[in-house]
Amino acid sequence: MALGSAPAKVILFGEHAVVHGVPALAAPVSSLRAYAEAVPGVGEGVRLHAPGFAESLPVGLGAAEVDNALTKIVHLVLREVSCGMPNLAIHVHSDIPIASGMGSGAAVSAAVARALCAALNAPMDSETLNRLVYEVERLHHGTPSGIDNTVIVYEKPVYFVRGQEPMPLRVGAPIHLLIGDTGRPSLTRDAVSGVWGLLKQDPQEVTAHFETVRRIVAAARSHIEQGTPDQLGALMIENHQLLRKLTVSSPELDRLVDAALRAGASGAKMSGGGRGGIMIALVEPHTTEQIAASLHHAGAARVIATEIT
Ligand code: MEV
Repeated sequence: MALGSAPAKVILFGEHAVVHGVPALAAPVSSLRAYAEAVPGVGEGVRLHAPGFAESLPVGLGAAEVDNALTKIVHLVLREVSCGMPNLAIHVHSDIPIASGMGSGAAVSAAVARALCAALNAPMDSETLNRLVYEVERLHHGTPSGIDNTVIVYEKPVYFVRGQEPMPLRVGAPIHLLIGDTGRPSLTRDAVSGVWGLLKQDPQEVTAHFETVRRIVAAARSHIEQGTPDQLGALMIENHQLLRKLTVSSPELDRLVDAALRAGASGAKMSGGGRGGIMIALVEPHTTEQIAASLHHAGAARVIATEIT
């Protein structure tokens, strides 16, 4: 039996602007994971069993199916390790809500690749895996920055600039977050292309927003590294306002952000692609319960507590 898994992620600061070259900060959520298990197959080739993604995909060698993410990662791994078509069944299971801004697609790709490499006895280093998962991410939206696959594959907090080597983000003191899921699925691709449209329409204003995000990310990075997370709240609120201006928030996200702030969170913002999906709230151990209750009351489909360390 060969197993692979990978975590969910949250973007702490800088989503969307990161697609356009601005730095961003992200962290894994190790308690929520995608899993894959590869076992000897009964038929020919690799069959993928993934409830909620696709039922059972035979992996032929033709290029035709390669616009499917699950099939694509199998092809990419086999090509990378120079292996012919093995006879395997790969079962995929994920705790990560789909299309929620938590990186479900990248986590599933990484888990499948890891299970496949384990079955083939062909270890793959993280840099190579990250490159392959990025290739698959390009199917989800044409211009991914690479932050999602990076934080998911390395499973470490990261300071990320598109096109540069990812830098580990040192976390000086634990950051307590609540993740509020609107329960409304949303495609990152649509939100990202919306921002491209806005940039074309009003380059001056949108570039100015990106530059403000750059300043927010720099300040947030230094508070995180210095272990002063209590200083992050105002920066989260400011980042959320800019994301609203970039049209990637939604009434549900704004409602959850307001509810968290009213219940005592020192900061809150949408996280990830937006227009649905998730938001994050900065909490303290003694305020967690009241803020979680408030998020549920404001319509959160799910509330998850996580600690960034
Ligand atoms: C999605 O998690 C983050 C975005 O910035 C897209 C990307 O970086 O590719 C919205």
